[in-house]
Amino acid sequence: MAFQFEGPFPGAAFGARVRWADAADAAALVAAAEAAPAVLPGMLARAGGVLLLPGMDAMADDPGLLVRLSHVFGAEVEDYRQTLVAQNLVHPTQPEIFVVSNTPPFGRQPPAKPEPALTPDGGFPVQYPQRRGWHTDQSYRRPPPDISLFLAVLPVRRDQGQTLFADGAAAYDALPPALQAQVDALEGLHVGSSAGRRREHVAAGKPPRPLAAHERPQRQPVARQHPVTGRRALYLCEYGQMDWLEGPLVGMEPGPDGAGAALLDRLMAHLTQPRFVYVHEWSKGDLVIWDNRCTVHAATWFDAEREPRVMWRTTVSGNPGPRYADERPSWIPA
Ligand SMILES: [Fe+2]
Repeated sequence: MAFQFEGPFPGAAFGARVRWADAADAAALVAAAEAAPAVLPGMLARAGGVLLLPGMDAMADDPGLLVRLSHVFGAEVEDYRQTLVAQNLVHPTQPEIFVVSNTPPFGRQPPAKPEPALTPDGGFPVQYPQRRGWHTDQSYRRPPPDISLFLAVLPVRRDQGQTLFADGAAAYDALPPALQAQVDALEGLHVGSSAGRRREHVAAGKPPRPLAAHERPQRQPVARQHPVTGRRALYLCEYGQMDWLEGPLVGMEPGPDGAGAALLDRLMAHLTQPRFVYVHEWSKGDLVIWDNRCTVHAATWFDAEREPRVMWRTTVSGNPGPRYADERPSWIPA
């Protein structure tokens, strides 16, 4: 076998690094992945939803390689020209690549530092609510996307600009049985962060604005069953990607101070305990692949005044599972 599975990640209980015979040859790796298309998706499932392929620097010079590898993970690779994202954030020649960068013309700023910046014992905070920004990509769509690929074209220095991942399946398994039974029957109400329904907006009493069809909140199971592994995983976001006006949890008291908020806060703090979290420190050429159906992730602060950062993301759909069978895309007007 050309690919070797090395997991879990150091210091974590999930994730895996993929070793490849010719570590620097991204083009050969993509060809091998295409020739045996079940291998890397199988490793992603075995790893619990996060894979690291280091040494993929050559993709930065040949962005089509990243798109080809993305197709190994699912039938549809999102074309960002067609899906209503700000067009200045799309790669100029490869429309399947979304550019996450603080450099012009992208201009995306990093999230704020946690407040306080360290844990009480001086550690790096990962747990909600001290750490904010935990989400799973585009959970405000039905069906939501399956897998994201994220390439470090120009990462910042290690100890800044990390990406944190939490294992939603392990967190679900560790819930007390009564709470597990409760979340099995619950749905969350997810919405994009620009819809004006963020927690702090609603808490400040800002009036809601009318939403276009593609912006409407969407229901998702709080315990989402993975179509490949069969495992259930906590499928949740927090401040910016839940609907804090009518949600966050369907059928529970709504709003930032309601019973739904209290349960969401409890579940999110559970999900992001250090025992379920992996902190990825980026090196140039790292390609991290994550499964949005069973993991959540969060970006961290970096010094955007001093550090230029360029990361490329693709988004793969096409295997959402039976819950979403035959649903037409919620975010594309009929
Ligand atoms: Fe994300």
